[in-house]
Amino acid sequence: MHFSGFLSKFSFEHLLETLRRYPPAVRIERKCVRDYKLPGTDNVVVKKGSIAVIPVYAIHLDEEYFPDPEKIDPERFSPENKGKVPPYAYLPFGVGPRNCIGRTFYIFASIIKF
Ligand code: HEM
Repeated sequence: MHFSGFLSKFSFEHLLETLRRYPPAVRIERKCVRDYKLPGTDNVVVKKGSIAVIPVYAIHLDEEYFPDPEKIDPERFSPENKGKVPPYAYLPFGVGPRNCIGRTFYIFASIIKF
């Protein structure tokens, strides 16, 4: 996201950190459309029709990705640090072709509010 010019640094990084600590969508789901063998396994297959649950809240609170995860620390998203957040560990708006289409609207609404 590239909206930092519109908000004060303090506010924008707080906004991102708040969505990490308290993601409104605590989990997202995907339905498997065909049998899929998990890479790196011999025979672990996700069956067509299965529902995969992505535990967003648990990932956001996993210290492997966010040290001291319960602490609200907007510095995690400072320009110096944000590259340290592993891809797919920060999912407040989901990811991929079905991610949130309201993300930009939400951010601009927040800018007006701030
Ligand atoms: C804090 C604000 C919001 C959060 C945290 C949020 C989060 C999410 C998440 C996690 C998803 C599922 C993404 C996925 O499965 O990968 C989603 C989907 C969606 N969101 Fe949002 N959302 C927010 C605001 C909005 C707003 C303001 C709108 C509309 C104005 C909106 C419209 C949608 C729609 C239509 C989808 C379904 C997209 C699809 O299935 O292709 N969201 N949102």
